[in-house]
Amino acid sequence: MPIYPPEPFRIKVTEPIHLIPPAEREAALRDAGYNLFSMKAEAIYIDLLTDSGTGAMSQEQWAALMRGDESYAGARSYYRLKAAVEDIFGFKYFVPTHQGRAAENILSACLVKPGQYIPSNMHFDTTDANIRARGGRPTNLIIDEAFDPANLHPFKGNMDTAKLRAFIEKTGADNIPFGMMTVTNNAGGGQPISMENIKATAAVYHEYGIPFFIDAARCAENAYFIKLREKGYENKSVIEIVREMFSAADGMTMSAKKDAIVNIGGLLCMNDEKLFANVKNELILREGFPTYGGLAGRDLEAMSVGLYEGLDEAYLAYRLAQTAYLVTRLNEAGIPTIQPAGGHAVYIDAHAVLPHIPQAEFPAQALCVELYREGAIRGVEIGSVMFAYPDPDSGKTIYPKLELLRLAIPRRTYTQTHMDYVADCAARIKSRAVQVRGYKFTYAPELLRHFTARFEPL
Ligand code: F0G
Repeated sequence: MPIYPPEPFRIKVTEPIHLIPPAEREAALRDAGYNLFSMKAEAIYIDLLTDSGTGAMSQEQWAALMRGDESYAGARSYYRLKAAVEDIFGFKYFVPTHQGRAAENILSACLVKPGQYIPSNMHFDTTDANIRARGGRPTNLIIDEAFDPANLHPFKGNMDTAKLRAFIEKTGADNIPFGMMTVTNNAGGGQPISMENIKATAAVYHEYGIPFFIDAARCAENAYFIKLREKGYENKSVIEIVREMFSAADGMTMSAKKDAIVNIGGLLCMNDEKLFANVKNELILREGFPTYGGLAGRDLEAMSVGLYEGLDEAYLAYRLAQTAYLVTRLNEAGIPTIQPAGGHAVYIDAHAVLPHIPQAEFPAQALCVELYREGAIRGVEIGSVMFAYPDPDSGKTIYPKLELLRLAIPRRTYTQTHMDYVADCAARIKSRAVQVRGYKFTYAPELLRHFTARFEPL
């Protein structure tokens, strides 16, 4: 077993958690329509639903909250955030937003026209849905290795730049208002993108005059993977790597609830002055004045501090090692996961654990329910519930290539013992996997259906 660094912090404030008995868990499942999004958080023991907004803030962040300037316009807290954003990302213009999807909505509102395409390595669900909501067509052009869970490619989030070029040639650059890239690739295993690939992708977009936006939710974790794995970056600091990554782009959307370790917040950055003017109008309409963007002044303060803490290398070493530890423990129990370990989450290959359940019966959802039943652990389905959709041309259901159960690890929140508990519960499910059954919808909305769907066991 490799050596994992201990937590680079000690615990000053605690929050109690309780394991409710099996009968209560069963009732909670029934009440929630077998959708763990619909469950009371108090019924959960270890909550790995998301790493978004669930991290523990530091003493410096809590102290910064007290400095929050709640002025409606021109608050001190805005200027502190502006300095951090400029220092780290280097874009000319930015607005705060209440979270990542607000930035995506504003960008889509300003740039996407019906029928237009927005390529990416792989869009996350909210980005995908925000583009679709404007009549756009999100398109994923990741390398093929991403679809092979066992493949050990060190940068499995990379864009396939040959596919991208062919796609632009076929679609026409005029039909592509902007291109994207998600770092790290959340929907495909939290896998990183190499610096070489970021620059190559930028070069293709720019050759065709297409602006390049990065979805920066987990850019710090991505930068640390570059430091660990990409030749020439081993002696660069993470902040230098981040600056280099973003110097290739024309803008970014960011959910600060991930690598900036805040409970709420986001960013939309760009270099284009005309776009910035439109973004500000859209922001005022839906979010708030451009110097607070739907957040309280204290939230801006926590973000300013958290943006730097997320780049701390001792923290990132521990962070990626904690994820790798859970992967190792699960694999030792015979539970296949996406390899190599990603940054923020473990992705169990539900297809491999429950091969007898077809995609139309939601194997990853079945595994998700089972993990709750076994140990009151909450993960999230990333498979057919989240990503199967009718083809706009043929009307036929298109299923995703992977059926995954994601266990996302909140930052600085759970210890190694918690990870051991999760691995032990998963191992017990593995031993009774043949008895696990699939599910069918009793309700499903058209967009983002995983949040509110209800199910019934088959
Ligand atoms: N982009 C990526 C890559 C994300 O993972 C998320 C959120 C968003 C954008 C949207 O940001 O939640 O602040 O509006 N992902 C969360 C998750 C919800 O659980 O992975 P948001």
